Amino acid sequence: MNSKLDLIYEGKAKKIFAHEDSDKVIIEFKDDATAFNALKKAKFEGKGELNCLISSKIFEFLIKNKIPTHYLGLKNNNSMIAQKINIIPLEVVLRNIAYGSLCKQTTIQPGLVLEPPLIDIYLKNDNLNDPLLTKDRIKLLKIINNEDLEYISDMTLRINKLLKEFFYNIKLNLVDFKLEFGYTSKGQIVLGDEISPDNCRLWDLNQNNGTIVSLDKDRFRNDLGGFIEAYSEINKRINNFI
Ligand code: TMP
Ligand code: ASP
Repeated sequence: MNSKLDLIYEGKAKKIFAHEDSDKVIIEFKDDATAFNALKKAKFEGKGELNCLISSKIFEFLIKNKIPTHYLGLKNNNSMIAQKINIIPLEVVLRNIAYGSLCKQTTIQPGLVLEPPLIDIYLKNDNLNDPLLTKDRIKLLKIINNEDLEYISDMTLRINKLLKEFFYNIKLNLVDFKLEFGYTSKGQIVLGDEISPDNCRLWDLNQNNGTIVSLDKDRFRNDLGGFIEAYSEINKRINNFI
């Protein structure tokens, strides 16, 4: 599929192809799953399709709520059409509940509710293992000006409010997530990349006995099994709700 299109870029989970309109691209979602900067790799049949469909529904919801995104529409079940953007090399992580690297790198206990939520910004650079940045380091690196950084942080908080409610409605607790932003050819900042169980931690709220049931990539990171089942469950809940 897509063999006639020029491949612009291949990442760990997606391929970006040229579109006949030079302001657009086609994003194909792969079945590959990676973790710990691709130290751990596997393929799950159907993962690409599930992440594409989940992301498209979430982008549609965000666009309806006035969040500018790169998403333009689905091409088929595992590829979407998006605006071509220049990705800002930052990974913007928002945390509602302490978990993952925050608890590995600090003495903060897993499960602590973070009010207000914490925004951690990382350098998008696989060779350097995506290091955590500071405001001063971002300034020094000249990646983005202060005003645009504020804009991105504000948009991340707005997206969090919307997504928290969206997921709550389908009985999922949005623990944390990672966003990427980019500039369109007109210089507008929009949300890019994907929003899926690959880059969100989602805990099942149907479990009321206090145990954490992850319905996201932690199932792969932590060898919990039931990976595709978890992603299918998210897709099913979204479709039943919309
Ligand atoms: P972390 O706790 O490992 O820093 O992850 C925080 C959130 O960011 C979690 O929802 C997973 C997501 N994430 C990515 O999407 N890509 C990455 O490379 C990493 C490290 C995390
Ligand atoms: N996205 C990273 C990788 O592909 C890490 C992760 O999501 O845990 O290796």
